Amino acid sequence: MTERQLFLGAYLLFPSGHYAGAWRHPYSERDFNDRTLYQDIARTLERARFDLAFIPETVSYREGFARHGLSNGLKHDPAQLAAQVVAVTDHLGVGVTLSTSFNEPYNLARTLLSLDHLSGGRVAWNVIQSSGPANYANFPRAEQLGRTELYDRGDEFVEAVLALWRSWAPDALVADPETGVYADTTRITAPEYKGKYVEVRGPLNLPPSPQRHPVIIQAGDSPRGRDHGARWGDVIFAIERTPADLRAKKDDLRARAARQGRDPDALRLFAAVQPIIGETTEIARARRDALASYIAPEAGIEFFGMFSRLDLGDLDPGTPYAQVLEERATPEHLESRTIVQLDELLGARKRAVTLAEAAVTFSTSELTPQVVGTGREVAEQLADIFTSGAADGFLVTPTHFPGTFDEFGRAVVPHLQRLGVFRTEYEGTTLRSHLGLK
Ligand SMILES: Cc1cc2nc3c(=O)[nH]c(=O)nc-3n(C[C@H](O)[C@H](O)[C@H](O)COP(=O)(O)O)c2cc1C
Repeated sequence: MTERQLFLGAYLLFPSGHYAGAWRHPYSERDFNDRTLYQDIARTLERARFDLAFIPETVSYREGFARHGLSNGLKHDPAQLAAQVVAVTDHLGVGVTLSTSFNEPYNLARTLLSLDHLSGGRVAWNVIQSSGPANYANFPRAEQLGRTELYDRGDEFVEAVLALWRSWAPDALVADPETGVYADTTRITAPEYKGKYVEVRGPLNLPPSPQRHPVIIQAGDSPRGRDHGARWGDVIFAIERTPADLRAKKDDLRARAARQGRDPDALRLFAAVQPIIGETTEIARARRDALASYIAPEAGIEFFGMFSRLDLGDLDPGTPYAQVLEERATPEHLESRTIVQLDELLGARKRAVTLAEAAVTFSTSELTPQVVGTGREVAEQLADIFTSGAADGFLVTPTHFPGTFDEFGRAVVPHLQRLGVFRTEYEGTTLRSHLGLK
């Protein structure tokens, strides 16, 4: 038995997330307007003792993504989905993604603190900084900033939200019918936050929640993004192809946290993984190999085009990938993480495949590492990564809904528990307590 226990999160993005064929998978539910789907998933995750369900966000429409049912092709409001999740569970946490670019601190702080109260202290905020023409077109009054300034604004935004969340002292709500004092307003202070980009007077009209205020998640990857995450994040999400890359990222984030005066042990790094589970190793491998068949070449090209930023729309799917790179890629494209890592994944085949084959390979997991095998084998691989210290937890990204989560809960979690690296019962009721955060 090890003392240290790993954390588990579930990635909830519909109609498909990291795997572009998820909604077409023969085992998948397809009615994403049915609240019982989200409730089923929430109950499944709680039965498996997951720490949290994670709900991403985007605030624009992309025609090709809607046509092919790619990630965010249909997007419910994250706070509304989170409300469905917490309504049918008692322990499961929920991570809600909301952008600092297109909200005001006051409404964001209240939406999340309200949900945090109504869930009994189980909410996290995934802090993102959105940009890009399609997003700005929907928020014409938002200030258009470069990547670095967006993070500068993000720093102020988080500071303002935290100040609002802390504007009531924990004992300010008195609710004493004898004296008639509902709130001791001497214990409530307006933060009067005034930064370069963000301004809000406050106070909020809510007291602190059972976990005081929501946990903070961040997933920045650029040097400036990592500084932002290391400064504010309780949880950091990462997608890295190898345990060595994860380890390097974790060390880098810990160093950045220490430089900003934070205790590096306060960070929890969750590594995204795509489990593919079978009754036998061979069945699991066959399931992995079948994933490509649910992604149309056009869908894969659309998905890969977005991430690689290559202009691919007019190309025949049968065009040799080597030719596409030669004719369309700048040195910057060639050095990008998407192209370098896809090359690694394609290995010896990398210059022999067609555009469609390269794009579909990318789209089976968006470069998220696949963990393939029986429940026991998947658990052992995850436990190895965890015990090596490369990650504190895993963000499980599905190939089909709700099946991946059900299979993971039934076939993998018992082995993680047997190995002594995962809880058999929740010890507390708040997300902060699951994550061992102060
Ligand atoms: C697991 C994970 C989930 C993410 N979820 C979102 C999201 O919901 N919305 C979004 O706009 N960006 C999301 N991102 C992107 C990150 O916030 C960040 O912008 C990205 O990792 C690039 O880092 P950079 O902004 O420092 O360049 C996510 C990233 C990861 C790894």
